[in-house]
Amino acid sequence: MIAPEKEEEAGCKDETMSPDVPGQTSASIVLSPEELDRLSSERPLVSDFKRMKLEKEAQKNWDLFYKRNTTNFFKDRHWTTREFEELRACRKFESQRLVLLEAGCGVGNCIFPLLEDDLNIFVYACDFSPRAVEFVKKNPLYCPERCCAFQCDLTKDDLRENVPEGSVDVVTLIFVLSAIHPEKMKLALQNISRVLKPEGIVLFRDYGLYDHAMLRFKACSKLRENFYVRQDGTRSYFFSKEILAELFEEAGFQPVANDYVLRETVNKKEGLCVPRVFLQSKFNKTSQLQSS
Ligand SMILES: C[S@@+](CC[C@H](N)C(=O)[O-])C[C@H]1O[C@@H](n2cnc3c(N)ncnc32)[C@H](O)[C@@H]1O
Repeated sequence: MIAPEKEEEAGCKDETMSPDVPGQTSASIVLSPEELDRLSSERPLVSDFKRMKLEKEAQKNWDLFYKRNTTNFFKDRHWTTREFEELRACRKFESQRLVLLEAGCGVGNCIFPLLEDDLNIFVYACDFSPRAVEFVKKNPLYCPERCCAFQCDLTKDDLRENVPEGSVDVVTLIFVLSAIHPEKMKLALQNISRVLKPEGIVLFRDYGLYDHAMLRFKACSKLRENFYVRQDGTRSYFFSKEILAELFEEAGFQPVANDYVLRETVNKKEGLCVPRVFLQSKFNKTSQLQSS
């Protein structure tokens, strides 16, 4: 069954894609003519009815995902502090208490390593799935003095109900925007912008265009361009850096960094080492707080 991808490293270092490599234009990796042909000729086969049902049941499908997998699916993301050194760098003075929002926190694989590593941080963590939020709250490392977890649909519930307006230094969006319908991604970013400080930043990591996970989807799973449904009903979008930059700019952010990261991950079950494409980016808030 195709499930959200685990990121199990094969001991390879991230390799950031240079835009100047011959044959690599805006795309993340070079595909064979056959692969390009297949992708461009594939038309979405999913009916409108099924597409609407998937959107309506998106929350339920993620909640069922956590019912089946509990806290065992994703690995703790220790790379958060290793790779996003901005977390340290964005302090104006050494003893500053950073306020972070992990938007779409799942069961907390990002936040708990961070809370252990950095004692001077307060983390808001929200997720679509009530079950995931319960797992976060039950984690032995969860304590209300340093953490506040709550259930929320980033595309429609105003984050200001739980997080004071303009109070957050850093938002992390890790493999979350890809799970949101492309037409609602901007709403999620605008929502996030309202709780960010004027000079706040968003740290983003997600699936890149032509990632292995995208190439193994069959035509019957295609919902629209670069957007697919897994067998469990959860969905995934694959970002080009141009589309991502445009999306953030429309929501009032400007790119500071925005690059593909190539790495190999091990699928232990299938005994395969596969090439992965992720997009890792950093955006600054540019617009004034929006009151709506
Ligand atoms: C692949 S998981 C990533 C979890 C976590 N960020 C991590 O890195 O382990 C994607 C998460 O996004 C959440 N999600 C999907 N759509 C959402 C929405 N509209 N609002 C809030 N969370 C959402 C899902 O419930 C799921 O927990």
